Amino acid sequence: MSAGAETQARLSVELAGDVVRLRVPGTPPGELHRLALRDGCPCATCRHPVSGQRLFESPAVVPAAHIASAEAVGGAVEIVWEDGHRSVFDGSWLAAEVEAGATSRPPRPLTFWESTLDPRQLTADHADVISERAELRRWLAGVAEYGFGVLTGAPTADGSVADVAALFAHVRATNYGRVFDVSVRLDATKLADTALPLSLHTDNAYRVPAPSLQLLQCLVADADGGDTVLVDGFRSVSLLGEASPEALALLARTPIRFSYRDAAAELWADVPVVELAPNGLPTAVHVNNRSKGLPTGSPSAVEAWYSAYFELLALLEHPDAQVRFRLAPGDVVVFDNLRVLHGRTGFSSVGSRRLQGCYADRDGLLSTLDVLARLDS
Ligand code: OGA
Ligand code: ZN
Ligand code: ZN
Repeated sequence: MSAGAETQARLSVELAGDVVRLRVPGTPPGELHRLALRDGCPCATCRHPVSGQRLFESPAVVPAAHIASAEAVGGAVEIVWEDGHRSVFDGSWLAAEVEAGATSRPPRPLTFWESTLDPRQLTADHADVISERAELRRWLAGVAEYGFGVLTGAPTADGSVADVAALFAHVRATNYGRVFDVSVRLDATKLADTALPLSLHTDNAYRVPAPSLQLLQCLVADADGGDTVLVDGFRSVSLLGEASPEALALLARTPIRFSYRDAAAELWADVPVVELAPNGLPTAVHVNNRSKGLPTGSPSAVEAWYSAYFELLALLEHPDAQVRFRLAPGDVVVFDNLRVLHGRTGFSSVGSRRLQGCYADRDGLLSTLDVLARLDS
């Protein structure tokens, strides 16, 4: 018997009032409620065949839907509803729903990293990425899993960094423009525009929402120093959760006001330093010494917050956590600004250094990755 035929033979269904009990091969037995099943009907009158968008209003249809019969038909389950509507759910969809019901929907796989990570494994050449779909897919998969990647040899014309972003996402223009410059300026209003080091940070925590992707391209690197430092914020958060769960919980429930102002902008947002999903895994880190405001609450709450915050910073700044490399002209580093913290070492003001950057969002990158996977499937 082929594997497929075996699957079909073993799928079994039992109706128990509002609940369909299922045994799907390879997964623990599960139960699905009629409300979710009716809401999830995949038929062409319920879902748009191309976008998958629901074509009915859930409250108008779902509450009144009752199951007349449910049976396994080959590798699928057919449900006939009391009003005569018919839904056919395939076995793999049902297996995924049963599994999600028992745990939760599986997140995208992330691999946490530390100083031992060799950034070369996350590096690709711009020329290869624009000419070979497989290479673009390999490189983007690395950015999704590790939270950063490097492209070498990209064009260095003014604004080219936005063209690199447009290969896989949509540029997010801000008050700094579509593209911003990082260079030493005598009239610097930002620390980034001096030769001083920048401690590890995420950008723009004062924006709602903070941009989830950032690109920085090196255009000129004639100065000594100015190396790029990256740290996996999610790894450090998980280490804090193991060592001091109370400290992590405190950081996650205390909003901090981040702010930025100049002649034309007045930006602020109240966000915790760490955002956690209901399952406790980190979804965002906001760390920026320059724009961070003060915690509120009683003196003892403030003391506890600083203790927790400094514990997180110590983990982030530990040498074991940091990957350090030097960008050459043409190189672009792309990173998840809600996961990976970035910084730079100071540099000598003899010789020049110039970067251009832009912001974009993670959803665009992940969408491109999934569309590329679809093309290859
Ligand atoms: C910045 C920044 C990094 C660098 O401008 O926000 O982090 O290497 N710059 O200059
Ligand atoms: Zn339907
Ligand atoms: Zn920055």
